[in-house]
Amino acid sequence: MKPVTITNTVLRDGHQSLAATRMSTEQMAPIAPLLDEIGFQSLETWGGATIDSCLRFLGENPFDRLDTLKKLAPKTPHQMLLRGQNIVQYTSFPDDVVEAFVACSAKHGMNIFRIFDALNDTRNLVTCIKAVKKAGQHAQGTICYTISPVHTLESFVKLGVELEKLGCDSICIKDMAGLISPSVVGALVKSLKEKVKIPIILHTHSTVGYGPAAYYAAIENGIDTVDCSMVPFANGTGQPDILLTLAMLDNSERRPDYDTSKFPQIREHLEKVYAELGAFTSPQNEKTDADILQYQVPGGMLSNFRNQLKEQGMADRLDDVLKEIPYVRECLGWIPLVTPTSQIVGTQAMLNVKFGRWKMFSQPAMDIALSKYGKTPGPIDPEVLKLAIEKTGQQPVECRPADLLEPRMPKIKAELKAKGYDDSDENAVLWAMFPAELEKVLKGEKPAPIKKPAAPVSEAAKAAVGRKYVLNVDGARHEVVVEEAK
Ligand code: CO
Repeated sequence: MKPVTITNTVLRDGHQSLAATRMSTEQMAPIAPLLDEIGFQSLETWGGATIDSCLRFLGENPFDRLDTLKKLAPKTPHQMLLRGQNIVQYTSFPDDVVEAFVACSAKHGMNIFRIFDALNDTRNLVTCIKAVKKAGQHAQGTICYTISPVHTLESFVKLGVELEKLGCDSICIKDMAGLISPSVVGALVKSLKEKVKIPIILHTHSTVGYGPAAYYAAIENGIDTVDCSMVPFANGTGQPDILLTLAMLDNSERRPDYDTSKFPQIREHLEKVYAELGAFTSPQNEKTDADILQYQVPGGMLSNFRNQLKEQGMADRLDDVLKEIPYVRECLGWIPLVTPTSQIVGTQAMLNVKFGRWKMFSQPAMDIALSKYGKTPGPIDPEVLKLAIEKTGQQPVECRPADLLEPRMPKIKAELKAKGYDDSDENAVLWAMFPAELEKVLKGEKPAPIKKPAAPVSEAAKAAVGRKYVLNVDGARHEVVVEEAK
């Protein structure tokens, strides 16, 4: 078998999972050229929550970030995470906005588009897939992995076959909660390899601790690519570490031959950035905890939850809320928990615990029940559906949800013009999703400087400063000293 290849996620999911997506372009710039030299399959640099974070917290134009990173790392394909019809937001957008977004991203150099739908409803992927193909780029279809009575090995393989038929160039098994066990992923990769010809990629998180073992099983069964990050933006709620993955494959014909000589230099820089982002890191995210297996919720969701419950004065109800989640999921057709469904299910579980089941029915949860996000994997609980119909006076949606949306680009462009801003496609697609945040960036307003961390600073971040590391890379020892944070 050919060596497995690695997608490096440190510039997107690595800091999204472990530092609230706060890594700035300035913090990325010094290592982008080094990452480009290693020979990774791709660099995940954009999409997911990074676009929101650029505009909302960092005062950056996300397209400028993409331009900068492409210039600094021109050799390796760049990859982004795209939420299908939701683009990088939480609700559906009309096709014209989706198409313009993909065209702009490709124009600025995006190569691989990993496209997912939270419900695994492929009708929500087709516009993106077509737009990516039209731009001459790589469309990666996604299987969102979750555990439920309606999600079987056969159902995932069937989805894989469908993605290939829809014209996808590769398929990603996206295990956002880190719940895929070695035996399950081994069997899934084996079956997919028998049924589809396009490359298969595994994306997981080390939240539970399965990560490295899941990669090993997937690699043994012929997976083409795995997603890895780099310490300290790896492990815990992030992806497994690259050095660990390489070490795991020592003496295996599947070990990729990467030039690891720059790793210590990259590590040194990342440790410094991690310390700088101390206000956004947390000891809880750095942990690997099999306890999550009983809740089956993504790690990021768990950490958000703790904060939300604290704000609501419900910190002591965490257990009750976590127990309510499977019930809410079942009522809402066993939807996978990934952005935005994880937030919707989590909030509804919280409301159920606080006020009694379905006494407060959130609008987004009603929208799921009415199939406004797409077709749910299992049926909606009849009582819950009845309640949603009564409360809204609406019937469930039968068609592809975006078919109900009017084109929006002309209206957005008129809005931009009326306000005196450039009505470029780039501005228009960002305005469609984040108008208030984009306006601040267009006005050149700088975000408030990061306050010195109030609390809790991650122990690892504190301990990192001044510490000497000895790294063992390909048999050679390297010493790394972490500088004081700015
Ligand atoms: Co992820």
